[in-house]
Amino acid sequence: MWNNGNVKENDKFIINGLAGQKILKGSIAVNGAKNEALKILASTILFRDGFELTNVPEIEDVNRSLELLDRLGIKTEWVSSGQYRLTVPQLTNFTLPGEIAKKLRASLVFAGPLLARLGRVVFPYPGGCLIGKRPIDLFLDGFVKMGARVEETNDTFELFSLTESGQPSKLRGAEIFFKNQSVTATETFILAGVLAEGRTILKNCALEPEVASLGEWLNQGGARISGLGTSTIVIEGGELLTGAGQSHRIMPDRIEAGSFILLGALAAAELMVTGCRPDHLEAFLALLAETGVAMEVGPDWIKVINRPGQTFTATDIKTHEYPGFPTDLQAPFAVFLTQAVGQSRLFETIFEGRLNYLEGLKFMGAKINILDVHRAIIDEPTPLSGREIESPDLRAGLAYVLAATVASGRSIVHNVKYIDRGYEDVSQRLASLGLDIKRVSVD
Ligand code: EPU
Repeated sequence: MWNNGNVKENDKFIINGLAGQKILKGSIAVNGAKNEALKILASTILFRDGFELTNVPEIEDVNRSLELLDRLGIKTEWVSSGQYRLTVPQLTNFTLPGEIAKKLRASLVFAGPLLARLGRVVFPYPGGCLIGKRPIDLFLDGFVKMGARVEETNDTFELFSLTESGQPSKLRGAEIFFKNQSVTATETFILAGVLAEGRTILKNCALEPEVASLGEWLNQGGARISGLGTSTIVIEGGELLTGAGQSHRIMPDRIEAGSFILLGALAAAELMVTGCRPDHLEAFLALLAETGVAMEVGPDWIKVINRPGQTFTATDIKTHEYPGFPTDLQAPFAVFLTQAVGQSRLFETIFEGRLNYLEGLKFMGAKINILDVHRAIIDEPTPLSGREIESPDLRAGLAYVLAATVASGRSIVHNVKYIDRGYEDVSQRLASLGLDIKRVSVD
């Protein structure tokens, strides 16, 4: 059975930092990608039968997505660690319950296939990480283009795709140009297009590998999607998909892999990161190599090697849609830059709330000048000091764990609930490398 509702609201990590010593050692395996798993789970709604998934990360956002499916009437069975069996009955429930959907930005992705299958969907304004404005205009505009009527009351949206007599009707294929490259909007309209009448053409699509993987999985079930991995994706609408006898393995999480590589550079003598896809991390690895981090790269592993007295040089980061430098690695990379020689400039171009965590790093002693909501300057290698800090969101939460690892003295990182959304068992996995980290539950 999946874990439902065991989130410990007030849990914290207590970390005794290494005061800049690079003494962690060992090997750490990368788990399945959160941002693929959530969308493959949403795809269940398009199937007539069911399928199996493996390498699913056991994280809170996955638990919430499984709970959403469960509330829609889809049977979700935990088979073994990371393995789930999903069975789809006749679906009739078109409401995404507010108390779950509001906590999860990816709940929006469930709206597309539900509307396409049942001709109707009700969902709340979705939540997610606190990283700035998260508009949903691309979604609403796209659904309208596909023939849906949108009604909004008190932050709840009800969308209909009905005939004159009120019978559910198919969405209509449409040409949709995304004014911003959006990962979840691209995925939502790929899913919606699978059951639409006719051809859907999506332009300026997100190129993230999780998007292409979702499309390839749908094609395996009978969908007709072309152009995957490019900025124009074409979907020929058709019937419900079949997953009979099929199993899908979730790809490795590139953000988790990148975060562990940074941990290796900051705090390990040698760290082997296994089960990853180096080809999904090209921009990140190129930048890191420029700073002087020594790495050996294999087909599915990356080894970080620190020579005694190794120093790193400052660099500038500008976040960009894939294959550029990922916004989700901006915060952990900034922690790394606090230890690099020289001045680094940080430019977060995707979200305007994603530099808030820098105040926490300043509190720990980092020399950071925040210029505006998108830009900051990080100066000099600065010794960090252990502090009591609150994670503002998932990725910044892990960045604080890295900062606490480098710092001297004890840090307490609050709001572990955010880190739990995307990283499985962080304290245990980092402790196995030699870090003094404990999770403390506060009831
Ligand atoms: N945007 C709009 N209108 C919309 C939707 C998005 O203007 O209707 C804008 C956003 O404001 C942003 C840009 O488009 O400036 C790109 O945002 P995107 O829609 O791509 O973000 P997302 O799909 O909501 C996903 C990941 C994020 C990741 C971003 C960017 C999931 C569930 N979330 O979010 O992951 O940061 O793409 O790569 O796939 C995380 O895992 O911590 C996380 C936040």
